[in-house]
Amino acid sequence: MVGQRAAEGRKGGRAGMRLVGGTALAHGEAVRLDGVSIAFTLKGGKRYVAVEGIDLAVMPGEFVAVVGPTGSGKSTLLNAAAGLLKPASGSVTVFSSALSGLNARAGYLFQADALMPWKTALDNVAVALEPQGVPRAEALARARDWLAKVGLATFTDRYPHMLSGGQRKRVALAQMLIRDPEILLMDEPFGPLDAQTRQIMGNLLLDLWAANRKAVMFVTHDLEEAIALADRVVVLSAGPAAKIVGEFKVDLARPRDISEIRLEPQFHALYKEIWSCLRVEVSRAYAGGPA
Ligand SMILES: Nc1ncnc2c1ncn2[C@@H]1O[C@H](COP(=O)(O)OP(=O)(O)OP(=O)(O)O)[C@@H](O)[C@H]1O
Ligand SMILES: [Mg+2]
Repeated sequence: MVGQRAAEGRKGGRAGMRLVGGTALAHGEAVRLDGVSIAFTLKGGKRYVAVEGIDLAVMPGEFVAVVGPTGSGKSTLLNAAAGLLKPASGSVTVFSSALSGLNARAGYLFQADALMPWKTALDNVAVALEPQGVPRAEALARARDWLAKVGLATFTDRYPHMLSGGQRKRVALAQMLIRDPEILLMDEPFGPLDAQTRQIMGNLLLDLWAANRKAVMFVTHDLEEAIALADRVVVLSAGPAAKIVGEFKVDLARPRDISEIRLEPQFHALYKEIWSCLRVEVSRAYAGGPA
């Protein structure tokens, strides 16, 4: 099974090709989860196994989207890749080294707003360089550049409450990218935004990513968003003990325009194929977990 998926991945394959079995055992992955299980201890000492036996690797420069029903374990997987959660079994490897502690080579974009309300947009971005000891004048200059790249050149002095939801997400994106992390971990970053702003943010993200390709693990509820952005879509089953139940290569041409690509027949075919896998898990999740 592993071999089949590895071989198919190398062939490139047609759009929507279903990949079967475990993640390819190639070398040089940016981040790699091998047989990862994560359990939480509940009140009274009972253990809840959220995800089990997850094999997932993201290559440098690859954009992987993870979809799955609510509560399936998508954030849990990102937290494992970030080093915020330690697996009960299995291992996390970052650029061929076992991960211990926080993943210093990754940037994390959370679903919730994580900007400091008492700092301006400029300071919120510049502060990300503090741990690296970048002198303040240089940090401010670089923060200004990044705010310009995300279209906020004239908003540098605004505090977060003076910005729209989409603008705050742009600041958060700049805050993550200014550190130039090699791996981007994103947890439904555009979740609270309206559909039109999500598309604008998606296109902005793709433009920035195309200019300097990072390994991306992008969690979303939105299958259309996942297909429009990613090179590969991974489907997680309903929990408990959620597993990867499908992997689909997205062989749509780049550069992509998020709003245009949805109109293409290839996109529809792929959506139908992945949804047939995902819908089963979504129904299971609402029915209270897997049979
Ligand atoms: N600290 C915790 N203690 C106990 N259970 C937890 C803890 N964190 C997460 N869980 C459980 O683990 C499962 C996976 O949670 P997770 O947040 O990863 O889901 P998700 O796929 O990100 O869901 P959503 O799409 O709603 O964000 C859920 O059933 C959740 O209740
Ligand atoms: Mg989540």
